[in-house]
Amino acid sequence: MTAEPTTPTGHTGFAGVADVIDQFGVHGYLADERLATTVFLQAALEKPVLLEGPAGVGKTQLAKTLAEVTGRRLLRLQCYEGQDETTALYEWDYGRQLLYTQLMREKVGALVAEAPDLASAVDLLADQESAFFSERFLAARPLLEAIRSPEPVVLLIDEIDRADEALEAVLLELLAEYQVSVPELGTFVAVHTPYVILTSNNTRDLSAALKRRCLHLSLDYPDAERELAIIRSKQTGLADELARHLVEVVRGLRQLDLRKAPSISETVDWARTLAVLGTKELTAEALAATAHVVVKYDRDLRRTLEALPRLVDPNAEVPDHLHGHGHGHGHGHDHGAHDHGPGTHTHDAGPDGAAERLAKDKPGRHDEAYYGTGNLAPARAVPSGQGARSFAARRPF
Ligand SMILES: Nc1ncnc2c1ncn2[C@@H]1O[C@H](COP(=O)(O)OP(=O)(O)OP(=O)(O)O)[C@@H](O)[C@H]1O
Ligand SMILES: [Mg+2]
Repeated sequence: MTAEPTTPTGHTGFAGVADVIDQFGVHGYLADERLATTVFLQAALEKPVLLEGPAGVGKTQLAKTLAEVTGRRLLRLQCYEGQDETTALYEWDYGRQLLYTQLMREKVGALVAEAPDLASAVDLLADQESAFFSERFLAARPLLEAIRSPEPVVLLIDEIDRADEALEAVLLELLAEYQVSVPELGTFVAVHTPYVILTSNNTRDLSAALKRRCLHLSLDYPDAERELAIIRSKQTGLADELARHLVEVVRGLRQLDLRKAPSISETVDWARTLAVLGTKELTAEALAATAHVVVKYDRDLRRTLEALPRLVDPNAEVPDHLHGHGHGHGHGHDHGAHDHGPGTHTHDAGPDGAAERLAKDKPGRHDEAYYGTGNLAPARAVPSGQGARSFAARRPF
């Protein structure tokens, strides 16, 4: 496989999948083969990548690391509900146009002085329109900036599923052609093809048109070895044996019926917390006292506290204060084969069991944990006025 020619950033490209793994590793991102293959193909084929997966599995970090590795500038478009093209693509700088018009009042007056009536004055002004709809008054937002950038960039379009479908339509031209059309000015074609990474938490389906233009990769929680390697690489200060055990516990928690499953970053936070507290042994008590680092809902915390003793040690006697309330079955209850992760069955009856879940949650526990936010809160505050703006039907795509 041949390496790409040297780019203006000095980065010589990726010689192959193993090279991607190496280069990302140097910058602290531990990529597995599947992910590295996608990155390699992205660079080789100049295709955008769409990363989908639960919160905290390294989607955003992948784009940041790609920028570091390649020495490219990172341009980021953070998507939110109600977002429109004026914050994504470009907008005309009306304030500046107005200022110029006022400063040139005399000039404008002289221009229309000869006009016999209003209609001809308007015609005279219209002839000057191009002076005001020129690049001078164009405020480029991240998408246009990526296309016009004189040096190669990584363009991160983060959490695209939070934006409305209309914004996806705006992206199509860019993703397929690496160009942006501004009706008043024409078409801007990328000087250097940007590496484009889109991320999604899967809170809604993305359009087939968008998916078709991208290499698609579903990121999930890593296997135990890679998660341990990530923890090691973050130098959390937690002894290796404890970190290994912690990873097993977290993997067990992910099997529970939690609203928000612990992410990689939360495992790292937990490891740091335990290290700072000088934890020498990973007991259910030590984990219970710090479980709020990874578990963010009361109901999840209850379930976690209930599960921790058997996750830490499947044969342990469960102290009463750590056991759930009126769980209804004895201690030492077998929750399944150890190597499948204890607690793999999730729909146990309890005081906060199926009925309550049905009442509160969207159907499908996987959705809720997977999406991270569920329908609990708006994903992002919508800046006032944004939602009300509509997409003008002036875009041909
Ligand atoms: N493969 C990895 N190698 C090294 N660190 C990782 C890896 N995956 C995740 N991390 C760590 O997890 C943290 C969270 O990752 P990131 O912010 O990219 O998650 P995300 O998938 O974008 O989550 P969200 O959907 O919530 O935005 C990163 O800051 C990084 O420290
Ligand atoms: Mg992210």
